[in-house]
Amino acid sequence: MLRYERLAEDLSGIISSGNLRPGERLPSIRRLSRDRRLSVSTVVQALRHLEQRGLIEARPQAGYFVRHVAPRRASPAARPTPVEPVPVDVSQRLIRVLLGGVQPGVAPLSAAMPASSLLPVAALQRLYSSVVRRHARLLEGHSHIHMDDPRLVRQLVLRSMGWAGPLAANEFVITNSCTEALGLCLRAVTRPGDTVAVESPGYYLMLQLLEVLGLRALEIPTDPHTGMSVEALDLATRQGNVTACLLVPNASNPLGSIMPDENKRRLARLTAERGVAVIEDDVYGDLYFGNERPWPVKAFDQTGNVMLCSSFSKCLSPALRVGFVAGGRYRAQLALHKTITSGATNPISQLVL
Ligand SMILES: Cc1ncc(COP(=O)(O)O)c(C=O)c1O
Repeated sequence: MLRYERLAEDLSGIISSGNLRPGERLPSIRRLSRDRRLSVSTVVQALRHLEQRGLIEARPQAGYFVRHVAPRRASPAARPTPVEPVPVDVSQRLIRVLLGGVQPGVAPLSAAMPASSLLPVAALQRLYSSVVRRHARLLEGHSHIHMDDPRLVRQLVLRSMGWAGPLAANEFVITNSCTEALGLCLRAVTRPGDTVAVESPGYYLMLQLLEVLGLRALEIPTDPHTGMSVEALDLATRQGNVTACLLVPNASNPLGSIMPDENKRRLARLTAERGVAVIEDDVYGDLYFGNERPWPVKAFDQTGNVMLCSSFSKCLSPALRVGFVAGGRYRAQLALHKTITSGATNPISQLVL
């Protein structure tokens, strides 16, 4: 690398890392020349290079400034169809983002949490103390055995009427949150090295799950209105090397898109035909505008190929850590994975729910 290229590279790194922000002035030519022990003409050459790349601009009598560049947003439809699955590596970057979100003065957009003022905290407090008082035996044991509380399962069966159910009681596995349910599903149907089709952009935790399980992510373009592109999924699964499809069809995170019913129907049919297991995250399904709860893809599943995961984190309290998966034909594997992962889900929380 030539000297001026080295300097240009360093300055561009400072800009892209956000240490020099749009509108801020770069160090003067004289200062750069002194600090970097470079001739003035080398420094000028580096700055011109950055100017040509559109990163900085010269202002007469004032020096060089970082340009305000509007972020380029490719429309999802214009993006090329994915061709190659890639190994996932997001965790380190993610930890930095999550830590950034807990700083004072920074809006915590890194996790989608309901505002605490919306949570039924007092009711939950009352229920927890009454359950512990009335069912003291729950504190006595059976922590290793995977046991779903039949009263909770019955309520889920009733609720599933709103998702074009009712689903059968024996489809359900109660889990510690939706996150656990998603992990169980991935482990039940994939092996390390397998390819999983995911929404792009999608929920970061999905990528972390793929990363720790050694799976490969195949990005499927996702539209802010209609969700995962069924056409792109169709193309991507033609070769028969996609094992599972992981998606949030209702109020996808981060786009908020809701897949139209027709797309859900097509996705259910396509994946069943191609032997691609569907892992559906419906954690936001109950938070809808209007009168009709959007149906999950599970409503269109005729072969037991869809695993429907959800929890009560977004509508009651994330602290309950109770979720579930309605596992279709994968239910037995899911129950096995649940037992070896964490045994039972907290029986007190199940009863409170
Ligand atoms: C799409 C999606 N699924 C799952 C979760 C986490 O749910 P839980 O708290 O039940 O693990 C979140 C939380 O942000 C989410 O956005």
